[in-house]
Amino acid sequence: MDESSQLPLFRAKDKTLRISENYESGAMVTLYLGDRLKLLEDIRDSGDRAELIVTSPPYNIGKEYETQVSLEEYIEGQRETIRASVEILSPTGSICWQVGHYIKGSGKTKEAYPLDIVLYPIFKDVGLVLKNRIVWHFGSGLHETYRFSGRHETILWFTHDTPDYTFNLDSVRIPQKYPGKRAYSGPRTGQPSGNPLGKNPSDVWEIPNVKANHVEKTEHPCQFPIGLIMRLVLALTNENDLVVDPYIGVGTTAVASLLCNRRSAGADIERRYLDIAKERVIQAWEGTLRYRPMNKPVYKPTGNASVDKIPDEWRIRYSRDQSESETETDIGQSNEK
Ligand SMILES: C[S@@+](CC[C@H](N)C(=O)[O-])C[C@H]1O[C@@H](n2cnc3c(N)ncnc32)[C@H](O)[C@@H]1O
Repeated sequence: MDESSQLPLFRAKDKTLRISENYESGAMVTLYLGDRLKLLEDIRDSGDRAELIVTSPPYNIGKEYETQVSLEEYIEGQRETIRASVEILSPTGSICWQVGHYIKGSGKTKEAYPLDIVLYPIFKDVGLVLKNRIVWHFGSGLHETYRFSGRHETILWFTHDTPDYTFNLDSVRIPQKYPGKRAYSGPRTGQPSGNPLGKNPSDVWEIPNVKANHVEKTEHPCQFPIGLIMRLVLALTNENDLVVDPYIGVGTTAVASLLCNRRSAGADIERRYLDIAKERVIQAWEGTLRYRPMNKPVYKPTGNASVDKIPDEWRIRYSRDQSESETETDIGQSNEK
């Protein structure tokens, strides 16, 4: 079987798929064309509550779908979204805000503002508590010249200030690194020391971002990988719960939720993204959507592929550099004599 395609985890064959354009309690998926605040208000007024609100808001970096504003104005917009989100959050629910950096300037004048740090006080102000700051590490992106290339973003996971939040760790355990390890002291001496269901995936997640050759790539410039959201949906909600994404783009949150048999609702101001979202949701429902499995390990070079090998042109340079450095060493040694 092609590794990049995978049948949904849960197929709710007895249900019909209803994709609604306005929020309706009974709909499996709502894809609302318009501002995120209107959708959040509609959900609030329906009396329904979300078990998970997960989103990647615009970063205010001038992408095709956003108008760049001052950082202060951006923060105010985010404050409105966060406040409206908390109003629809269930008492056991979670909010996951996935962000990177807002970058000011260019070239050597670039200044990076980590948006998780900028937005954290807003979540505290509304009474939420941080459970994890998950580091999402990926391998591709812009090659910087005047600073280190950025290869991570973060997900802030908040809950209400309660011990009763939903957390299904067993649903998202990953294979142990050393499953054969045994306890060497105490009452369990000699017995396997790990959990047979696997280990906690930790707060550093290595998942490829959706770039040109990714199996999930659409025309959206910065979509979530499905596996990233699936892990959050499985861990932080139960079947039939409601998952909301105020900035849903091409519907990754809806797809991940559907594959896990959760209801979802999301808003976007771009019709072309919602059209793609709808298509992906239908494919997910029909079992034809290709996506990268949630826990698929990141490819490690084997040394055998042509791209793994040092090009011959570079070998010549390496050997020249090598002989130059040997000459320098020789001179250094002769000076010491
Ligand atoms: C970072 S993208 C989210 C992509 C999404 N996570 C996905 O996987 O496709 C942010 C999205 O927010 C949308 N957006 C911008 N302003 C909005 C608003 N006021 N209300 C709803 N969506 C908005 C943009 O069109 C864009 O698709």
